Formats: sequence, C-alpha cells, structure tokens
Amino acid sequence: MAGTADLLTARLQAAFDAMEPGADPVVRPSSRPGVDFQANGAMALAKRLGRPPAEIAAQVLASADLEGLCRQAEIAPQGFINFTVDETFLVARIQAQGADPRLGVRPAETALEVVVDYSHPNVAKEMHVGHLRTTVIGDAVCRLLGLVGHRVIRENHIGDWGTPFGMLIEHLVDLGEEEAAHELSVGDLDTFYRQARAQFDASAEFRERSRLRVVLLQSEDPETTRLWRILVDQSVAYFQEVYDKLGVLLTPDDIVGESFYNALLPVVVEELAGKGLLVDSDGARCVFPPGWANRDGTPLPLIVQKSDSGFGYAATDLAALRDRFGRLGADLVLYVVGAPQAQHLAMCFEVAHMAGWLPNRDQAVHVPFGNMLGADRKMFKTRSGASIKLVDLIDEAVSRATAAVSEKNPDLPAGERDEVARMVGVGALKYADLSTDRVRDYVFDWDRMLSFDGNTAPYLQYARVRCLSIFRRGEIDPEPYLKGTIPVGLDHPAERALALGLLEFPAAVEATLETWSPHKLCAYLFEVAGLFTTFFENCPVLKAPGPDARDSRLVLCALSAAVLGAGLQALGIETPERM
Ligand code: ARG
Repeated sequence: MAGTADLLTARLQAAFDAMEPGADPVVRPSSRPGVDFQANGAMALAKRLGRPPAEIAAQVLASADLEGLCRQAEIAPQGFINFTVDETFLVARIQAQGADPRLGVRPAETALEVVVDYSHPNVAKEMHVGHLRTTVIGDAVCRLLGLVGHRVIRENHIGDWGTPFGMLIEHLVDLGEEEAAHELSVGDLDTFYRQARAQFDASAEFRERSRLRVVLLQSEDPETTRLWRILVDQSVAYFQEVYDKLGVLLTPDDIVGESFYNALLPVVVEELAGKGLLVDSDGARCVFPPGWANRDGTPLPLIVQKSDSGFGYAATDLAALRDRFGRLGADLVLYVVGAPQAQHLAMCFEVAHMAGWLPNRDQAVHVPFGNMLGADRKMFKTRSGASIKLVDLIDEAVSRATAAVSEKNPDLPAGERDEVARMVGVGALKYADLSTDRVRDYVFDWDRMLSFDGNTAPYLQYARVRCLSIFRRGEIDPEPYLKGTIPVGLDHPAERALALGLLEFPAAVEATLETWSPHKLCAYLFEVAGLFTTFFENCPVLKAPGPDARDSRLVLCALSAAVLGAGLQALGIETPERM
C-alpha cells in the first residue's frame, strides 16, 4: 500500500512531466485547517520556466486526475496547491490497512538474497559499545528486509584467526584449559586477553612459544586446533549470552568467522594472479585498484599476501565476497561496519569487482555508523578510561528501567515488572542507537533514553500500551476492530490526522530500507505516537458521543497499537502489553 502522499504525487506527476520531464510535484503534509497536503512543485518549476507559479499550478490542476482521491484542490496565491483528501477514500484505506496482517507493507517486487555482515566481535576479546551499534543496527536491517520478503542470510564474521591466537593459545595452556575455559565462559574476556598480552610483552620465552604456536595453528596441528576451538567455542557461547540478553536474531549458526575462509585464501590469490591483477610490491602481493591513492599521490595498494606469505584482513574479505556472491548466490551484501573501515571495504569491493566476483559494484554496500560518545562528547569510556563492556551496559539499562517502571506503575506484580523492565531497558538502549542517523556520532545519555517523554523507546512502548489499555478498561476485544468491517468516521481533525499518519506506515518502511536508515522509521513512529496522543486528548473513546463514534475511534486505537507494535518489532524492540 503506497502512502497517501505518494499516491497524490503519482497523480500529479504526469501533469508536471508534461511541462518538464521529471519535475518533482513536492507533495508535503499541510498543517492548514481543512488541508491535508500541499504541492509546492509549481513554484520551483515556475522559476525554472520563467512563468507565473499560479499559471503552472492551474495547468497542473487542469490536467491532473484527482478523481476519488481528493475532494478539493485549491491554488494559493503564492502558487502552491492545497489538497483535501476525500474522506471516503481515507476510510476505505484505513479499513484495508487494518484488515491487512502486513498493515499495508508491500512485499518487494523481487525477493532478493541478502547477506548481512554484522556484529562480528573478536574471539577472546570483550564486546564493547562499537559492537552494540553494529549488532543493533544490523538486527533492525535484517528484520526490515524480512518484513518486505527478502531472504536474509545473517553472517557473523567473527575475528577468530590471526597471529594473536599464538599468544592466546599459549596463555590458555599456561592457565590450564579448565580455568581458561571458565574465565572465557563467564565473560572475563578482557582479563584473559590482557594477561596474554602482558606475558607476551614481558617474556621472550612466551613470545617464542607464541610464534611457534601460530605456525602449528596454520599447519592444522590437531592438538593446537583443539586448543583454538576451546577459545572459539567459549567466546561464542559468551557472545550468544549477550545476544540473548539483547534479544537479537543472531544464533551460533550465523557464525561464519574469518577462519572459515582460510582454505579459500590461496584460491583468491591464484585467481587474482590469473587475471593479471597482482603486483609485487616490496615482496608483498597487492592489487592497485585505479583511483585509490595515498596522500602523496602514490597508488594505494590492497595487500592480499604479505611478504612473509601470510594473508591479511583484506584477503579474508575478498574471499568472503567471492563466497557470498559465488557459493551463496547473494544479490546484495550489506556490511554493517563502523565508518573507519570505509576505505578498506571500498577497496575490497572494487578489487572483487575487478576480479569478477562482485557482478555489479552496487551489490556490495557499506552501511557505516558513527561513534557512541560520552557526556563529555569524547569516546564513551568508564570513568577510569577503560572501554565499557557491553553486558554491563545492558544490565545497567535493565536495572535503571526497573526503577523507572516501578515508579511509573507501582502496582505491577514483581514478575511482570521485571519482564516489562527488561523490554523497556533493552528497548531504550537499542532505540537510542537506532533513532539517530546512524552515520552521526551520538551522545549516550541514560536519562534521555529512559525518559517516557520524547523520541524514546519507553515513550513509544507506553503510547502503544495506552491504545491497548482503552480496550482493557472497556473490556473490549480489539480483534474485531481490525477486520475492516466497522464503519469509520473522521470528523475531528485529530482523527483525520491520525488516519493520514497511520497510512504512511508502508512508505516509512520503504524509505527506511532505501538508505538502510532505521532512524527514519523511528521518526515516523514518534510522529504516530504524537498524533495518537493528540487524538486521545481530544476525542473521548469509551465516552464517545455515541456507539458509532466509539466504534470508529476504537478502530483507530486498534490500528495505532498495531502500527506502533509492528514498527517497534521491525526495529527489534519488544512491546509490553501493560506498563
Ligand atoms: N571483527 C572486526 C572488528 O571487530 C570487524 C569485522 C567487520 N566485517 C568484515 N567483513 N570485515 O573490528
């Protein structure tokens, strides 16, 4: 179901095209009384054509077919056109949206096979706030893709390979397997890593053992592989605990770590060499994609194989691209990875394209995100300057939410209160991340994100609860109100505005997917919650003037709850029934 604004645009487009092909009608919601939308496109077009705006507008209205959509269209002296949507049309659309289990969201024209590379923490290293961003944004993107019918392959590209594993395995041996496994499984990854590092820095003997261990690991020595597995398995079990706390879709089956591509690395080199793309540079084997240069203008290499014949991060990413488009048959691969890796990824995409593994350059997309900052606008750290453990952050969110929920509703039974607090705390944490344009840095602020006012998860969760509580108070089953059979009237401006807002849900989902920007859906839901609040304050529901008005308003309440619920769910945010 297209949004009303899009439908109106479509009706006006031919008239604009006739004067200038592709001219935008610029349809915007209007806040003028009795007006729903205005089209401003005539003004810009008039300027470009050197004609009076009102004349252009008149020409548009003379040829545009508004039958069934608009009841009234009027040209303002400045040259914009005011439209009032036909109420019969609005009501029919609201009925259809309510009766549609998808709430009007259309399945994509072609269902694509989409690989999403996100979360990707590193084995035996703590998950920190940067991993929160990729995990939460990636999760929302996966859910939204699923909502419109794409097939999503989640790939958790964990860092499970490389030279540090020599030192990590030796530390595991020194500590004793059992003790090491315990430390990792309870999430003491930082201590483990730091101790290994300290040994490595302090002892030449440990360094030598570590070096030999790397060789053993690379040659697939069975005992070394077994020890490596302990590190990986324990870390993965711990990551999964964090994912479960966060309520994200990732499971152990989604793990396709760097090590998965080991066997493919020589193939990557061979194929690149076969295509004549490899250049020897100081003993390293590199590709120089055209257009990439160092600051001094010298060409910038993507190092595929180092001079010691080891493979690096880039080789692994090339192998992953080859695998995703080849073996997995992906149509699109999304990389939800921090902005600092933009150049690395762009070069990998370019080289994969040159090698013929990536059919079209736009089928691999970096979905970058900015930093999470502390109140001082510097990188978010603990007071002592250590990086913050993700689990600690989640736990604190839930305990703060427990306090907030208890204050708001002291009567909730303890068990339900804890469940609601979990949804509110985790939801607040996720929503704070999702609601700012992901490319920007954002300031982490507990009070703001947990507030019941403003563009926050608790506000939206609460708005939905308010819709539902009307049904509870009236002891009414909401179900029949979403069947499209109960007559709806939109006499009050607040009813009409809410209806128009609800109808934009599918368009908001589409706009969000167009640029992989969850904040667009957040902004939309925030707007709907505001429209509902205005409606709620102006239009009594259970005490409506008559049974027809009451039923009509109950339809709007049920649909508001459904849209808020579906929207939050698409963002990975759970919704309590009471709070
Ligand atoms: N493991 C890396 C890190 O924590 C991120 C991996 C990103 N994905 C990729 N395909 N390069 O920084």
